Amino acid sequence: MNAGITALGTYVPEQVVTNFDLEQRLDTTDEWVQTRTGIKQRHFAAEGEFCSTLAIRAVENLQARYGENVLNGVDMVIVATATPDAMFPATASLVQAHFGLKAGAFDLLAACPGWLYAVSVAQAYVKSGTCKKVLAIGAETLSRVINWEDRSTAVLFGDGAGAAIIEPVQEGYGFKSFVLGSDGTGADHLHMKAFADCLPSGAKLSNKLYMNGREVFKFAVRVMDTASLEAIEKAGLQTEDISLFVPHQANARIIESARERLKLPLERVVLTVQDYGNNSAASVPLALQRALDEGRVQDGDNLLFVAFGAGLAWAACVLTWGGKQ
Ligand code: UT7
Repeated sequence: MNAGITALGTYVPEQVVTNFDLEQRLDTTDEWVQTRTGIKQRHFAAEGEFCSTLAIRAVENLQARYGENVLNGVDMVIVATATPDAMFPATASLVQAHFGLKAGAFDLLAACPGWLYAVSVAQAYVKSGTCKKVLAIGAETLSRVINWEDRSTAVLFGDGAGAAIIEPVQEGYGFKSFVLGSDGTGADHLHMKAFADCLPSGAKLSNKLYMNGREVFKFAVRVMDTASLEAIEKAGLQTEDISLFVPHQANARIIESARERLKLPLERVVLTVQDYGNNSAASVPLALQRALDEGRVQDGDNLLFVAFGAGLAWAACVLTWGGKQ
């Protein structure tokens, strides 16, 4: 049996924060942010909007696009997030309750590649017969964990959510390969506090996001390329067979470097970082939605997804779009 994505919905909060807005708050410029990252603006959740709110809005958007019945038969909800409402209950349980689903629910923490990890679990559940229809959501309220004392990270992040249905699809369609990796020796480069004061290395943890941008940049450039090539090979395909590259939207320079190394033409790359900034686990579904809305995805197209982040961890995947039964 093959499993694939049969529906997608997304949400970004109304409040838009431009680089010019940040100039009022930080020692930075629109010119610096655009040149170094490609970001022009990001969306921030309003007071009273939580990670669960964003996830629920993304599912409502899914219903608006595909009809109320799209949730019929969902028997598992997974929310990938690094910024949940609470350590427990799982944000996924709040989503499950909101829609009155007769389903299991859990959160998955794998930072920026989190949604691809959630999707990998979802398709394994479906293929094994453990579940029939899984709702895999990436949702983040990163604006709540920004360290406003650190201009090099404060300009990068935004809030948003994306929700996908994973279920059986026709022969020849669906997920072709997954590459999932982690190098925890890079833990010191990107972290945030939970219940310990420091990491095993002794690195002090803070309540706000910490990132060593240069180190993560080097890692990202390397892994985007190697993980992508591995996923393409595992799928039994060549780079030329990839119709659309849907990468994690952290930095336009990182995406451009991967595009060059993969020798993909510009028109086969999805870029949304200018509008949303880095949405961590919500970044890839938001980029995919943009491509779908722009009519850039046809049935039978091979899509390549790749993401990287805290862990340091990464995920890549090849999916043949379409094949809904
Ligand atoms: O999804 C999680 C994964 N995270 C990422 O993918 C992020 C990866 N890293 C990056 O995207 C980049 O490293 C950054 C965008 C974070 C930083 O860009 P960079 O080109 O590596 O800059 P840098 O850290 O080497 O800093 C260059 C200069 C420094 O000034 P000096 O020392 O050369 O005088 C910084 O102080 O830019 C300065 N700077 C800024 N200037 C204006 C750093 N942040 C800012 C800022 N505005 N916001």
